[in-house]
Amino acid sequence: MNYRVPRTRKEIFETLIKGLQRLEYRGYDSAGVAIDGNNHEVKERHIQLVKKRGKVKALDEELYKQDSMDLKVEFETHFGIAHTRWATHGVPSAVNSHPQRSDKGNEFVVIHNGIITNYKDLRKFLESKGYEFESETDTETIAKLIKYVFDNRETEDITFSTLVERVIQQLEGAFALVFKSIHYPGEAVATRRGSPLLIGVRSKYKLSTEQIPILYRTCTLENVKNICKTRMKRLDSSACLHAVGDKAVEFFFASDASAIIEHTNRVIFLEDDDIAAVADGKLSIHRVKRSASDDPSRAIQTLQMELQQIMKGNFSAFMQKEIFEQPESVFNTMRGRVNFETNTVLLGGLKDHLKEIRRCRRLIVIGCGTSYHAAVATRQVLEELTELPVMVELASDFLDRNTPVFRDDVCFFISQSGETADTLLALRYCKDRRALTVGVTNTVGSSISRETDCGVHINAGPEIGVASTKAYTSQFISLVMFGLMMSEDRISLQNRRREIIRGLRSLPELIKEVLSLDEKIHDLALELYTQRSLLVMGRGYNYATCLEGALKIKEITYMHSEGILAGELKHGPLALIDKQMPVIMVIMKDPCFAKCQNALQQVTARQGRPIILCSKDDTESSKFAYKTIELPHTVDCLQGILSVIPLQLLSFHLAVLRGYDVDFPRNLAKSVTVE
Ligand code: G6P
Repeated sequence: MNYRVPRTRKEIFETLIKGLQRLEYRGYDSAGVAIDGNNHEVKERHIQLVKKRGKVKALDEELYKQDSMDLKVEFETHFGIAHTRWATHGVPSAVNSHPQRSDKGNEFVVIHNGIITNYKDLRKFLESKGYEFESETDTETIAKLIKYVFDNRETEDITFSTLVERVIQQLEGAFALVFKSIHYPGEAVATRRGSPLLIGVRSKYKLSTEQIPILYRTCTLENVKNICKTRMKRLDSSACLHAVGDKAVEFFFASDASAIIEHTNRVIFLEDDDIAAVADGKLSIHRVKRSASDDPSRAIQTLQMELQQIMKGNFSAFMQKEIFEQPESVFNTMRGRVNFETNTVLLGGLKDHLKEIRRCRRLIVIGCGTSYHAAVATRQVLEELTELPVMVELASDFLDRNTPVFRDDVCFFISQSGETADTLLALRYCKDRRALTVGVTNTVGSSISRETDCGVHINAGPEIGVASTKAYTSQFISLVMFGLMMSEDRISLQNRRREIIRGLRSLPELIKEVLSLDEKIHDLALELYTQRSLLVMGRGYNYATCLEGALKIKEITYMHSEGILAGELKHGPLALIDKQMPVIMVIMKDPCFAKCQNALQQVTARQGRPIILCSKDDTESSKFAYKTIELPHTVDCLQGILSVIPLQLLSFHLAVLRGYDVDFPRNLAKSVTVE
């Protein structure tokens, strides 16, 4: 939204479209925009809506095709909204995409991330009042509901934010919402509950404040009337943010900083149930009720993220770029935390809670997808270094089971985005039971990092590729660092700690060595890419490598792939083995080496032709291999960081050879903010 910053319609489109493209990794089955209309006389009292099935590019093309778009029209104040969708309710189609509207006249339009769980009841109610629905989405109920509240308002001067406040009191589920309306030209209202939302602020001029005080109100009619008058008509400068002297200012609402980072790195993270409104170039935030724990203001924070970090550079896909970034990203995870001279580790975000953690009854490590695999990968070393029982849990299953959690449990929540709904709900579940909660995330300001008692930022840098790669290796290292910190005083563990810390130090170089195998892995992909299925087998420290490798393969190549625990081979999976079935075996020089040899024998005895990921000096396994990929050796508990990389590369090459869009796998989204 721009205020006193003249922008042409073309510039407005470009800003919206580019923002969407930066967010496209989060959902991409359809997209849409709503901007102020083209009619010069009433241009701000008419909303133009353009929606298109497919990727943002399709929407971009559509915008330029429409004759009615006068690209040169200039606006001094303008508010446009845009959305890229990952379908939850209703198939991907133009009509189901956002913005959703209140009526054919586009009186109110809204964009929504999340799920409204009571939408069926709301829809029934609104239908009974004569509202006609055009889409199958839960979001459309919000657009209709705000019009219903508006049509039934008791005073003419009701503010836009009051309408939104009333709407969200009826909503159940998760949402981040941005509204636009012909009844409130040049005004924007946004709100969230459970889904992330931030506001970027750009101004050449000094801002009136760095802390925006929250306005509270209890929702009696009298109150609403009074506060509306003071707040919206004569917002005094202590209660809102604007450029000093009513100078030009622009506000950007987004679910993720990557959408706006090229415009500004100054952002405000909204909290659940905050209602943010911009009118006359002034931003104010209000909440309905004050609770004791509420922070009375929202600060403007400066993000460190660079635009370049979210650009592909010379790589053909974000995933490829992120795989190749791993020597730096793992280094950044350790930077300033591991002291290789004194063999100590200091995680600043945990140090004040260490005593409490040491006294706990058990550790529970919770995540989804790749983040869960990072927990599986480090479970053994955590058990060894902390001498505590460690449970690893898939967030959804953990919740389904109503798992008993106690005050003396310490619960870790592993999440790249820090927004995954299942993980976030598991966090709230553990908080309710008074366990100490620890976040391990890659996103500063994310819900999980804010709602946990303490935590570790993995500092891997923005990850855009839907298939997570560098976040996995950095999560892995973060958990190992935690184990090292916990064991600092254990005399019996000092040799082991030194060995692991030495291993950490050499990781960036060893990762480079693994990455130099790229061509060889490409050749292997050429042999495999027409297959329907691919098994990945291993055990011990590398069981997680197999789960993660198989997940990468299925996510982006759409081949069937299974990570198999070699110890379970004879209990079922062996039946799959024959001459044709490609099998990758991860066999490292670690305590499971001999047992892996048994599995290898069982596979070759059934005419299986294993492709073996093994250590460079392993002459034994290579004798039985159809092909080998030889990896540098590191300490057993860190080997999984090196052995997963060939599988990341393999899945990438397989997907490219099969002709798929690596960064946009069908049906998947980067950050799943719905249950
Ligand atoms: C989605 C993504 C996966 C990711 C998982 C957990 O399923 O497609 O790549 O591993 O969510 O995401 P998180 O952000 O919590 O690590």
